[in-house]
Amino acid sequence: MCGIIGFIGEKEAKNLLVEGLKRLEYRGYDSSGICVKNDLGLSIVKNLGKIDQLEKDSRLSSVRGKIGIAHTRWATHGEPSEVNAHPHCDCKNELAVVHNGIIENYSSLKKILEKEGHKFKSKTDSEVIAHLLEKFYKGNLAEALLKVLPLLEGTYGLAVIAEKSGEIVVAKKGSPLVLGIGNGDMFFASDQTALINHVNKIIYLNDNEIAVLRKDNFEIKNINGKNVNYEIEELKLGAESIEKNGFEHYMLKEIFEQPKSVKSALTGRLNKDGVKLSININLKKIERVILLGCGTSWHSALIGKYVIEELTNIPVEVDYASEFRYRNTPIRDSDLVVAISQSGETADTLAAIKKAKECNAKTIGIVNAVSSSIARECGTGIYLHAGPEIGVASTKAFTSQITALILLALYIRKERGMELDNDLLKEIASLPQKLILSLESCDEVEELAKKFKDSKNFIFLGRGFNFPIALEGALKLKEISYIHAEGYPSAEMKHGPIALIDENMPCLFICPHDHTYDKVLSNIEEVKARKGKIIAITDKTDDKLSSIADEIIYVPAVHPILSPLVNVIPLQLFAYFVANMKGLDVDKPRNLAKSVTVE
Ligand code: F6R
Repeated sequence: MCGIIGFIGEKEAKNLLVEGLKRLEYRGYDSSGICVKNDLGLSIVKNLGKIDQLEKDSRLSSVRGKIGIAHTRWATHGEPSEVNAHPHCDCKNELAVVHNGIIENYSSLKKILEKEGHKFKSKTDSEVIAHLLEKFYKGNLAEALLKVLPLLEGTYGLAVIAEKSGEIVVAKKGSPLVLGIGNGDMFFASDQTALINHVNKIIYLNDNEIAVLRKDNFEIKNINGKNVNYEIEELKLGAESIEKNGFEHYMLKEIFEQPKSVKSALTGRLNKDGVKLSININLKKIERVILLGCGTSWHSALIGKYVIEELTNIPVEVDYASEFRYRNTPIRDSDLVVAISQSGETADTLAAIKKAKECNAKTIGIVNAVSSSIARECGTGIYLHAGPEIGVASTKAFTSQITALILLALYIRKERGMELDNDLLKEIASLPQKLILSLESCDEVEELAKKFKDSKNFIFLGRGFNFPIALEGALKLKEISYIHAEGYPSAEMKHGPIALIDENMPCLFICPHDHTYDKVLSNIEEVKARKGKIIAITDKTDDKLSSIADEIIYVPAVHPILSPLVNVIPLQLFAYFVANMKGLDVDKPRNLAKSVTVE
C-alpha cells in the first residue's frame, strides 16, 4: 500500500506534493512526509496521522524547492510514528527515499549494514534502501540504484533524491508507478489520479525498470542500465472524476453514481443481438471457470458463480486470491481464470493470476483501473469504466463488477451457441433506471440507521443470488462503522448463528419474491420466535412479511439475476449513515487502505 509522488520542474514542489498526497491518501493514511531539495540541501517534514495534519505542520512553511518526493503510509513494518514515516535518509541525510512495497530481506540487509557502521533511525524495512544507496552513491543516483536493486527481495515503487543531484530516480517492481510528462516539468506517482490537472501524457513504468527524471527530459532503463522503449499514453481522467460534487463524502457520491457507472459498464456491450465483448480468447471449449478476488471483489465473484452457472451450465469455482495462490490445486488449460479487482493492484490477485497463467489457463481481468498491473497481466478482459473509486469502502465498483460478470456469462452463453433470453437482455438494459429507484430508499434507510446505530452486533441473511449480498452488507457495516456483523446464507443460520439471536440482535433479511422467498420467510419466523429484530429488504408488499418484520425497505422488482444490484444499495446506504451518525471517517476507515499491494 502507501502512496508516493514526486515533482521536478520550475514550480515550488511543496504544494503540488501535498495536493498529490491527498489524492493518494486512499492508499494509506497513518502518517505522511515530504522531502524537498534546494541549494541548501534536503528539507524533510514528517507527520503522524492524515495528510491534513502534515498540511497544518508549521515546519512546512520553511520548506522551499523545485524538486521533491512525498509519501503517505499504511504501516507494515514499524508502527505508525513520525520516525517510521517516509522519506527515509542515509546516515548523513544526503539522500532521501520514499518506498511503496515490502523489502522482504530487509532484516539481513540491515544486519550487514549495521556491521558496516550504518545507523538506522526507524523500524521500517524501507530504510535499508537509503543506507544501501549511501554505500554505492558516488555522484550518480541511477548508477547507485542499479547496484542496490539486485540486492532487494520483495516489491517496490520507490524514488530517491540527493542533496547533490538535480534528478529524481524512480524504480518499480510489483508496486505501481506512473510517470507524468508536463511542459518543462515531470511527475511520478503511484496512481494517475494524483497527476490529474498537471499533465496529460503519462507512462506506466514496467517491473524491473528505472526512470531518471529531469525537469525537461527523462530516460527509462531496464535493470541492466540499458535504455528501453516505452509507450506514452493520454491521461483521460478529468478533475470532476476526483471531486465530491456536492456530496459530503466520496462514499455517498459513489453510491449515488451507480446508475451511471452501471450504464458505463453496459455501454457498447449490450445490443439487440446480445452481448459484445472484446475478449480475444476462445471461450467455446472452456470446461471450468475460476473466479478470483479479495474482499468485496470476492463477493462479486460469488455472485458471478451463481450467474455463470445459471446461464451457461459451466461449473464455476470461487477462490480468495490469497488462498488460490498458495494452494496446490489442479489448473488446466481448459480453465478460464478471471481476476476481479477494482484497483487492479491487489497483490494477492495479481500473484494468483500469474500462477494461473503459468499453468496455461486462459485468463481475463474484470478491472476498474485502466492499465493497472492486473489488467496488464491479464492482457484481455472487461474494464468496468466506473471512474475512480475514492471512498475506501467499495460501492460502485461492486455493482459494476456484477454487471460485468453478467455480461461475461451472457457472452459465454452466446459463444457456445446457446439462446439468449430477450426479456433478460431488456431488463439488463433498464438496470440504470432500476438503480435510480433503489436509491429512492435513501431517506428510509437513514431513518433505519438512526434506530440501529447503537447496536453492537448485526446479522445479514440472504439466499441464492443474494447470499453474497448478505456478506457484502455485513462487510460494509464492519469496515466503516466498526460494528460487528456477520453475513450468512439464511438457511445456514439454524446450524449455529441462531444461538446469537435475542432481543438485542438485529437481523437484516434480503428477501426478494423469487423461488426462495417462502423458505426465507420461514427463516424469518425462526428469528422472530427468538425475539430477534427483523429488518427486511424486499421488492413488493406482502401481508405475511409486514406482520412479522419490524422494518421493511422496498426496492424495485427485477429479474432474480439482477436482484443483487438493487438490493445492495440500501445496505451500502445503511452502513454509510450508521458510520456518519457515529461521527466516523466514512471515506478513510481506521486500519484500512484501498489498494492492498502487500500480501
Ligand atoms: C471493501 C473493499 C475491499 C476490496 C479488496 C479488493 O469495501 O474495498 O475489500 O474489495 O481489498 O480490492 P480490489 O478490488 O481493488 O482488488
